[in-house]
Amino acid sequence: MSYSANAIAGQIGKQGISELPGLFSAQAARQLQDIILSMQPFDKELFLTREEWEASPKTHKNTNPGPGTSILEKLEDKLAFVEENPQLKALLTELLGPQYRIYLKKLVCRLPGKNIPDWVHDIIGGTTANSLGAFIRPQYRNISYYYDVDVHQDILEWPRQPEGQKEHRLLYMYVHLGDVTQDNSPLCFFKESHRFGATPYQHTITHIAGDQWSYTEPFDGRNMTTQLWPLLGEAGHAAIWHPCLLHGSHPVKNDSIRLALRYVLARDKDAGHCLIDEIGNQIDGLPYLAKDHNPGANANKDGSFNLQDNDFTRMGRNGIAQ
Ligand SMILES: [Fe+2]
Repeated sequence: MSYSANAIAGQIGKQGISELPGLFSAQAARQLQDIILSMQPFDKELFLTREEWEASPKTHKNTNPGPGTSILEKLEDKLAFVEENPQLKALLTELLGPQYRIYLKKLVCRLPGKNIPDWVHDIIGGTTANSLGAFIRPQYRNISYYYDVDVHQDILEWPRQPEGQKEHRLLYMYVHLGDVTQDNSPLCFFKESHRFGATPYQHTITHIAGDQWSYTEPFDGRNMTTQLWPLLGEAGHAAIWHPCLLHGSHPVKNDSIRLALRYVLARDKDAGHCLIDEIGNQIDGLPYLAKDHNPGANANKDGSFNLQDNDFTRMGRNGIAQ
């Protein structure tokens, strides 16, 4: 499979996302998944007991893997099928500049409901479980665990970027380590929603019918009809998207564990013209927001998420077709 950086930039600019089937080895992805699944538990053993939770700070801050705590740091040599892929390197050089950076990378896991203790379900029930990290034993906080994820933009992370290293000229890339179908919590993107730029979480997005949704941005009240775009494919399947593209995911329906590599890729600060600059020209809105609207940072004092139910969450939990 041969890809053109210009075509990818055109798709990201217009749609917000570009899928890259066949770019990475399915076999290498599956092998990595098997290794990870053998390294630690992925069931209720991951979690604190209710008593331990009650005695904990109940904060969601710093419960995601970071430098020194990511499981991927033990697996660097197994990531070459992605990071050293010659075609990816050539594409990123055109998109982000010759000295493009892997700004952040982590392993993301969707856990099926049966692998989550009842006491955690009691706390997250009726809300959108944006991160399970605070409920996880500290030694296993080397992966980002989720049950489902409300509709959000990844540029939400901007206020938490370290001072002096803040960067919004980013692309996000996902690489599935197993096969992803409608039944195991695919990321669901809202096509073209990046064009209004960064907007505060929780977003005003309501279901119209079928795969059609209505999105209204809060600053000028502009509205668009957007289409749901589930990211489906076999192991190794990848996609690159814009930081302001709305997306979320519903709970796993088939009891499987979904693992994916998530990369944040940054522009070469010193490079001249790059294709990401042309993508940015198509955004009519803010590139990022200064205030942290992250649901974890704004959780209730008992650790529960201070979130409103919405169409996306309700439909996912009730098993209604997307
Ligand atoms: Fe995201």
